[in-house]
Amino acid sequence: MLGKPKIRKPGDLPAHRLNGRTGCSAAGWMRNPLVRSRGLLSCPNVWKQQDKIMSVTLHVCITCKAGETVPEGTACPGTRLHAALMAAGAPETVQIVPVECLSACSQGCSVALSSPGRWSYVYGRMTESDAAEILSGAAAYANTPDGIVPWRERPTIFRKQSLARIPPMVLA
Ligand code: FES
Repeated sequence: MLGKPKIRKPGDLPAHRLNGRTGCSAAGWMRNPLVRSRGLLSCPNVWKQQDKIMSVTLHVCITCKAGETVPEGTACPGTRLHAALMAAGAPETVQIVPVECLSACSQGCSVALSSPGRWSYVYGRMTESDAAEILSGAAAYANTPDGIVPWRERPTIFRKQSLARIPPMVLA
């Protein structure tokens, strides 16, 4: 029986991964400069060590006004989103870092997910009420070797409100 044709969604392209496999024996790991420089090749559980090193950063713009007029002395929407994320608590491998402007000022509140060796993503039109979904998306991102979370496992806000994806930096 023929399966459904694979439909690519925005943000999925290209679908290929940097490494063919994620196991210890995968040739991709041998070529990974980070693994080589840290001497992890002798470890029987390279994946766990790699995961520790490659913690994920969730940058949150704390200067986003999201089109609101913000009276002096009150927190702007970006600051409130950051506070909501901090209050909810980040997953173990995710670090929440405030930043002033992600250059997506016309797109409401913005956040960015990044990690060495993984694709980076910028999301817009976020609100405080999205905090739980943002953190669950960040956790799913942290559980991938390359940052590409399968489409159906992404939170809806990540599926619909992605502004940019940036390839992982390749070290020479
Ligand atoms: S002020 Fe938030 S992206 Fe520019």
